Amino acid sequence: MSKTAIIGGTGVYDPSILSDIREVKQETPYGAITVTEGTYNGRTVLFMNRHGAGHSIPPHKINYRANIWGLKELGVDRVLATAAVGSLNRDMAPGHFVFPDQYLEFTKARECTFFDGGEAGVVHTDMTEPYCPAIRSAFMKAAKEIAHTAHNGGTYVCTEGPRFETPAEIKMYHRFGGDLVGMTAYPEVALARELGLCYAAVAMVTNYAAGISESHLSHEEVLAVMARLSEDIRGLLLKTIDLLPAERDCGCGATAESM
Ligand code: HPA
Repeated sequence: MSKTAIIGGTGVYDPSILSDIREVKQETPYGAITVTEGTYNGRTVLFMNRHGAGHSIPPHKINYRANIWGLKELGVDRVLATAAVGSLNRDMAPGHFVFPDQYLEFTKARECTFFDGGEAGVVHTDMTEPYCPAIRSAFMKAAKEIAHTAHNGGTYVCTEGPRFETPAEIKMYHRFGGDLVGMTAYPEVALARELGLCYAAVAMVTNYAAGISESHLSHEEVLAVMARLSEDIRGLLLKTIDLLPAERDCGCGATAESM
């Protein structure tokens, strides 16, 4: 039976959605992680708070490698990630969900691979389809069932943060083909693929990006929209888990090609 983890933050996790909950600690070569494990409709589900207790870890300081390695060690093979984003695409309005199918990354100082040479070797992982198509399709069905406006596909731009972008940067990302901008979904997505996990993200549009929005951006604005979306995001994640087949039947687990 496939095991699913939800990576989320404030507002996404409500302990009452799982039964038999317990805290689980897992050591990894990159540091220890702690997750909440429980049961939902007969399936084991793990919940990981990406920003730590009380939203204390900024996006550029998250230990992405420990998080993904730890989930794999705990037997997880599917990851459903949530991410707040600004929108560069007028069709993707605040309040909408978007299930990205591509990403562009503009991060600067993040450990972004398990293959650092040495014993781990030199490995070049295919990224033609970075987000699991089976989970994305279940996300779309689930969004329809809960009647929440959602977009199937979009390009997620990951910035280093923690500051928001300048309007000039947003203009550039838009010209490059970006639809959404956020600070957290990379390198998670690539690390998950390196270990053969299925990974897909629900991008929750909290605002139009800098220069598109008529006002200055604030974290409070992001949190206020997230709070409005929290019930639907929980509904979407649980419906998606119900819709996913008991075993994986996509290609995400295929071994990375090594050189
Ligand atoms: N930029 C970057 N990250 C974000 C934004 C944004 O506009 N909104 C929510 N997360």
